[in-house]
Amino acid sequence: MTEPNPLRQGLVDERLPEPCTVVIFGASGDLTRRKLVPALYTLACERLLPASMAIVGFARKGTSDDAFRAELKEACAKFARHRPLEPHAWDAFSKNLFFQTGDYDDPASYQALKARLAALDQDRGIPGNRVFYLSTPPSTFPVAVKRLGEAGLVDASKGRPFRRVIIEKPFGTDLLTAQALNREVLGVLDESSVYRIDHYLGKETVQNLMVLRFANGLFEPLWNSRYVDHVQITGAEALGIEGRGGYFEQAGILRDMVQNHLFQVLAITAMEPPVSTHADDLRDEKVKVLKALRPIPEGRFDEFVVRGQYRAGTVSGRRQVGYQEEPGVQPGSKRETYVALKLFIDNWRWAGVPFYLRSAKAMPKKVTEVALVFREAPLRLFGDRAQAGQSPNVLAIRIQPDEGVSLRFGAKVPGNTLEIQPVNMEFRYGTSFGQEPPEAYERLLLDCMLGDQALFTRGDEVEASWRWISRVHEAWDAAADDVETYEAGTWGPDEADRLLLRAGHHWRRP
Ligand code: BG6
Repeated sequence: MTEPNPLRQGLVDERLPEPCTVVIFGASGDLTRRKLVPALYTLACERLLPASMAIVGFARKGTSDDAFRAELKEACAKFARHRPLEPHAWDAFSKNLFFQTGDYDDPASYQALKARLAALDQDRGIPGNRVFYLSTPPSTFPVAVKRLGEAGLVDASKGRPFRRVIIEKPFGTDLLTAQALNREVLGVLDESSVYRIDHYLGKETVQNLMVLRFANGLFEPLWNSRYVDHVQITGAEALGIEGRGGYFEQAGILRDMVQNHLFQVLAITAMEPPVSTHADDLRDEKVKVLKALRPIPEGRFDEFVVRGQYRAGTVSGRRQVGYQEEPGVQPGSKRETYVALKLFIDNWRWAGVPFYLRSAKAMPKKVTEVALVFREAPLRLFGDRAQAGQSPNVLAIRIQPDEGVSLRFGAKVPGNTLEIQPVNMEFRYGTSFGQEPPEAYERLLLDCMLGDQALFTRGDEVEASWRWISRVHEAWDAAADDVETYEAGTWGPDEADRLLLRAGHHWRRP
């Protein structure tokens, strides 16, 4: 029997999940309000939820089922993709919402939760299938998993009924903490029940990167060191740290965006074609890329990494205070809000091709993209003068916003002389499909209910990315030099331009 095709599920197969209960730990948090329940409501509107289900919010701060429903009605009205709320759809959906007060560390709370879930199973004909979504502070992940295990809430023989645990980011803060968390989680659960979230994998355009590469005959033959000169991956945001000074002081942009989101995008961009789209075949290929990342050579750190921090400035007409003035930031903090990396993937396909990654807050605009910059044609057939205005061919995959793909190439300027200028061939989701792409969390929640791990990260993958990232943190901790600064609303410190210039390259200005 052939394996189900994860990239098609939900898009073509329209499989419905089996009846189940989704338990959200951290139900009073922002993610529940802004993303998780609006995503479930949208799935309900699209008739993608099981015929029978329950959604149970679990949190310390007590509330009633009714108050929980009222709060989430407001949240869905504001954040769900299907807006305004359709009264019948909301009424039907809200009957599935329940609230259970409990403490993440208290065994009695888990017994109470267990009794509640059993009662709901009985009322609604749910055969004991459960998804536990840990949307709590990361420090609570080990204890929550441990208590779930002790209470017998996650044991299942042969996967029936299913018991799955979704773990929000961050998964560790360095290699050692990620390894410890993996040990703790895998001491209770089998890897096949662990769903580590990286919401970038749920983005339609990140999935399209795989489709672009592996469902077309055109691109893949060019996708290697023979034709690609270098690759640029950008994850820029216009916003500053938005009052998250306390968190950001611990994290910095390298942990917040690069270790997870950008490295996932990098892995999908660089991986070999998987033997199938089954979760483990896909993840095997991503791990190989992360393992092939060349460690930065001792003593040559500055040639490969630039970190920066924003000063006050103006972003799209809005005044942005400097990072040092943000609440919760330590005076003299060296925490980076900008990072640029030059990476090499030491494998057959990519030997010698630089991959430049950058991610930052307080940039001129929000843009996430992958750009493959191609080598020049072997000969300047039309002469230097005609080709003076030409620039390299670029295939840019725009992950967000204005989701799409563009291909830049040289064209003859109309007229009786020969002059070549760059032009773009564009594909835009909005124009071609006339509809908004679904929210990442819709896809990820649905896939977890369907038991499809393809768009979730595996334990070894997370450790492989931390192994590279933690070396950078160790070098920064040991370094006496200061962080570079850049004015908010600009594309980062000059030093980041020099990182590319050494090889004759330039950052794109998307
Ligand atoms: C989160 C980071 O994981 O991703 C945030 O913690 C960041 O700092 C966000 O703003 C970016 O996500 P998106 O989907 O808006 O690109």
